[in-house]
Amino acid sequence: MADILTPLFSRADIKKTVKRLAEAISRDYRGEEVICVCILKGSFMFTSDLVREIKIPTIVEFIRVSSYGKGMSSKGAVTITKDLEMDISGKNVLVIEDIIDSGLTLKWIRDTLLARNPKTLKIVCLVDKKTRRRVDVPCDYVGFTIEDGFIVGYGIDYAEKYRNLPEILVVEKS
Ligand code: IMP
Ligand code: MG
Repeated sequence: MADILTPLFSRADIKKTVKRLAEAISRDYRGEEVICVCILKGSFMFTSDLVREIKIPTIVEFIRVSSYGKGMSSKGAVTITKDLEMDISGKNVLVIEDIIDSGLTLKWIRDTLLARNPKTLKIVCLVDKKTRRRVDVPCDYVGFTIEDGFIVGYGIDYAEKYRNLPEILVVEKS
């Protein structure tokens, strides 16, 4: 049976939010260079829109970690499957995440990158599922806050599907 998809954030909502985040980031890092770390795969669309709106010198790097597999809940066990290609020590690092849910993935990534001695490390997250947090992670820039529900689109998948959808939708398995 087909999944049921319900629109949540439109392309216009996303565009406005990305612009707001980019303005705050550009202001806060004025006069500095920042390494934008896109967490694959979910953040690829968000990253591409965000960096186009950021008005300071930017380097784009990618990292991929395994977290969810095909299910809908976090296992907590994280491994790097594609690492950064740049030494981040002494640099400003901005981690770009699609969703923070339990916080386990982002906390692990944050701790791992902090161990490489960046000058600063901040996090920008498109969607924060606040009520589901199991570990505390400081999020410096948050796009949308939602209560619960499994979302897809705008780079975000359910079992690798729906990443191509240009808006964000809630998915219910029928
Ligand atoms: P956490 O470790 O529980 O915070 O999981 C965060 C990661 O799980 C996100 O980066 C997403 O890749 C994935 N995830 C969490 N919630 C959703 C969702 O609603 N849709 C799709 N992926 C999700
Ligand atoms: Mg992810």
